[in-house]
Amino acid sequence: MHTGTTLTQFIIEEQRHIAGATGDFTALLNDVVTAIKTISNAVNKGALIGVMGALETENVQGETQKKLDVITNEMMIRSNEWAGHLAGMASEEMDAVYPIPTKYPLGKYLMVFDPLDGSSNVDINISVGTIFSILRAPVPNRAAAEADFLQPGVKQVCAGYALYGSSTMLVLTTGHGVNGFTLDRDIGEFILTHPAMKIPADTKEFAINASNQRFWEAPVQRYVAECLEGSTGPRGRDFNMRWVASMVAEVHRILTRGGIFMYPRDTKDASKPGKLRLLYEANPMSFIVEQAGGVSSTGYERILDMTPENLHQRVPVILGSKNEVEVVLGYHREG
Ligand code: AHG
Ligand code: MN
Ligand code: MN
Repeated sequence: MHTGTTLTQFIIEEQRHIAGATGDFTALLNDVVTAIKTISNAVNKGALIGVMGALETENVQGETQKKLDVITNEMMIRSNEWAGHLAGMASEEMDAVYPIPTKYPLGKYLMVFDPLDGSSNVDINISVGTIFSILRAPVPNRAAAEADFLQPGVKQVCAGYALYGSSTMLVLTTGHGVNGFTLDRDIGEFILTHPAMKIPADTKEFAINASNQRFWEAPVQRYVAECLEGSTGPRGRDFNMRWVASMVAEVHRILTRGGIFMYPRDTKDASKPGKLRLLYEANPMSFIVEQAGGVSSTGYERILDMTPENLHQRVPVILGSKNEVEVVLGYHREG
């Protein structure tokens, strides 16, 4: 028998320190956890339950949807819409704000999510994840409009991700550090296994999709070239490279042993200043990374300070070990 702290216990104990807390947030988080357990189960069963493969539809971002993109989006909605904690939801897989059905009460929070991050990996049994971010509704108990969601990342009340890897983990911040929980399937509970996660300040590991190299800007070209020169170049040490193509898996690796992850500004498509989405990916991950002592930037500005212009806005992302990200930001300042 384990004697670990469950996620519910952890959140309730954390909430006791917040004056005026009503338990709403704990209840909301429990609904998110239910969705994550359901998604973990579907991802894990995979081909046994016929959820692999692509659909013929595209999402609002122009990306072909996987069956699981749509199924997991539905799971997040069904689990979180009914309890009266939310005034609206927005997701990478839905064109517009999802209004809470009128048969349910409205609440004081907003939730945004990427239901299945790294979904190009699902058919090949490589790690995928779910990313979520909780904001306060500007006007509680009123159906949320798009403008209500366009809050800078510093306003997030909570951000987290689930990683469906060799084990299922939930990593969470409410602005008081970062804690990691592992799903014990036998009892159906997330148990605190990674308290107070901290990103090592130094690293010799970088992550970038090198197939985009010809589109990168000069500062990123310089940084990667210097990493590749290794111990014979200006950095004076050999680097290692990883690319999982699941941001959740990359961020989890960085939280565990350090590293730098870049999906930088490039010239591939003038209409997209980056690939990753500010609301669903960059903001929640930046909140977690900063709370673990790391840095997250577009190269030019702190991501958490950006005021979003629209729900599906994309941004460049450079995040990870403090000292390494600072090297790249220095190259951006030099131009
Ligand atoms: P999603 O599956 O939600 O669309 O996100 C995929 C993202 C991110 O998780 C990953 O780091 C990146 O896209 C992978 O991009 P490449 O296809 O360029 O490798
Ligand atoms: Mn994603
Ligand atoms: Mn996705």
